[in-house]
Amino acid sequence: MAEAYTRAWLNYGPAGRSENTEYFRTILCGNQENPVLKNAIEEIKTGAGGMYSLSPQWAAAKPEKGGYIELAVNADLDTAEEGYTIKTDDRRVLISGKREIGVLYGAFHVLRLAATKKSLAGLDIKKQPSFRWRLLNHWDTFAPPAIRDNSDSSALAGSLFFENHGIICNDRTRDYCRMLASVGINGLAMHNVNVYNDALDMLLPRFYAEMRALSTLFESYGIGMLISLNFASPVLIGGLETADPRNERVQAWWKETMDRLYANVPNIAGFVVKADSEGVQGPFDYGRTQADGANLIARAIKPHGGLVFWRCFVYNSTQDWRDTETDRAKSGFDNFHPLDGKFDDNVILQIKNGPQDFQIREPVHPLFGTMEHTHEMLEFQLLQEYTGGATHVCWLIPEFKEVLDFNTYALGKDNTVADVVGGKTFKDYEKSGVVAVANANSSSTWCGHDIHCANLYGYGRLLFDASLTAEEIARDWIVQTLSDHPQVVKNLLHILLTSRTTYEKYNAPLGLGWLCNNVVHYGPGPDVYEYDRWGTYHRANWEAIGIDRTSRGTAYTLEYNEPNRSTFDNIDTCPQELLLFFYRLRYDYVLKSGKNVLQHIYDTHFEGVEDVEVFLKEWDALEGLVPEDFFKRVQQKFKNQLAHSKEWRDIINTYFYRRTGIKDAGGRKIYD
Ligand code: GCU
Repeated sequence: MAEAYTRAWLNYGPAGRSENTEYFRTILCGNQENPVLKNAIEEIKTGAGGMYSLSPQWAAAKPEKGGYIELAVNADLDTAEEGYTIKTDDRRVLISGKREIGVLYGAFHVLRLAATKKSLAGLDIKKQPSFRWRLLNHWDTFAPPAIRDNSDSSALAGSLFFENHGIICNDRTRDYCRMLASVGINGLAMHNVNVYNDALDMLLPRFYAEMRALSTLFESYGIGMLISLNFASPVLIGGLETADPRNERVQAWWKETMDRLYANVPNIAGFVVKADSEGVQGPFDYGRTQADGANLIARAIKPHGGLVFWRCFVYNSTQDWRDTETDRAKSGFDNFHPLDGKFDDNVILQIKNGPQDFQIREPVHPLFGTMEHTHEMLEFQLLQEYTGGATHVCWLIPEFKEVLDFNTYALGKDNTVADVVGGKTFKDYEKSGVVAVANANSSSTWCGHDIHCANLYGYGRLLFDASLTAEEIARDWIVQTLSDHPQVVKNLLHILLTSRTTYEKYNAPLGLGWLCNNVVHYGPGPDVYEYDRWGTYHRANWEAIGIDRTSRGTAYTLEYNEPNRSTFDNIDTCPQELLLFFYRLRYDYVLKSGKNVLQHIYDTHFEGVEDVEVFLKEWDALEGLVPEDFFKRVQQKFKNQLAHSKEWRDIINTYFYRRTGIKDAGGRKIYD
């Protein structure tokens, strides 16, 4: 019988390398009762079974002969709290963690080395995470939103955590925790940031028992539980007539509710809050600021050591498309920047990587590095809501690296986004980190597409060690998941490393964004957002396209520190790939490539489809070199991607041809 779901990168296939085998005979660990250490022991057993057909024995004392892996907690280790060292001497691999979780991370490190066929001899490794908080926000709901539950877009398919109005905690949940711990994820919110219906009750006794079971499991893998909450809860479930943060009864309600919750559910790291956004209530409803709102929750949970992850995705989602003054891209900065220093110390602002909403190309959000007295956290999206759903391969790690490497010039000097959210710039490592909207769901391949697991894997690896290159991460994923056969590695490396550029080619050009369908956000719909209320307009007419966001236009550019401000504000220095984000350009404007804007759009849309044809060929060449079921599933996905990239090409090219009446210089087919 086929397995209900894949093992993703933890499949521990035969790993050869006989010199490693010896170490897996015995596991020495002084304390096998501790749940985290127990998981480390179990994981090594599973790995040894799969890779070397061995069943290592646990031992409390050093074995007289033969190789062994020793697991040790050493509070004096010179690392951050979750750090570890790995040292091989003679017949022993010694994994030391400052705390138990470091031991578990070290165990996964050793298993990864073995699975990627590296030698375990002579190791001398010291590691600690680049970011304190390495989080996921699942956007699961108790009832999956039917409209998004289709196999192509599947941005939000079935939930890993909810079923039949209840919370799931089973073997699969454990396997998911193993996957997350193996790449160092240390916190997770189960529910969507839009909190309604059953989800409101996650603060109440109704779910205490289920939440307790889940958070205890999480804890044994070093994962803190995050809870998404609705700011209007005092009204929606508390029987109060207001949720005003300055109201004493509201304050008392939050305090009592949180006291009870913490008393009943262990291991709650914090709360994620979306407020005053897209119809969700917030402090603005009571004439209060975002700081009033965040501090209300922060004070209620402070005695319990909890954190508030307050999202900055606050904007007017009822804009009139005729209104050319309002620029949605400015909303995050405008709503939060004036409040610098007003947030309590246990509030962290959660800021999307760009000022809009996870488009394939956006500039870095101007809030990064501009709020000296506020904790800032970066939000990415692994869920490929706008980047190809469960069909298009779009490996996001190169993009994530670009964002992390962006120089914010905070404090007037070199300070990358990674420095800011890594706690280096403002010296607040404990309140630093990165979060991503998660892409795993109830699908048998975890992420709806076997290759999309590389995004989840890569995200964790990058956060734990920001110095890794995209290629190093990709290579490890390929070998751990599939094979180290040179052809497999070569073809998949090419696909992964170029897939984001390919998707960008046939999606939205030059940072324009928003040429997609509404609701599912999948597939082309170049005018769908144009006359809607979401503030996302390209305003294409017969001669020009884009919004002027420079100091001559909406003045968005002025929100950046210098010299970024001037760089973006000058068309000669503005990065070409972002030109249509910052400028309104005539179609005949000539880019640095020598092509004009229109020809660039035509060319990239043709090229994008050609790239996918190459992906399909590269994948076909792997038949027989990767497991057959995996091969077939991915082959079908690439066929679908090819068909859908043609939709993008033809609809976008036709759209601009109809607008301009100008033909492709290459004479290729564009439909009338
Ligand atoms: C997007 C997405 C919403 C989500 C929102 C958010 O707009 O379509 O479903 O709730 O982002 O980040 O809150």
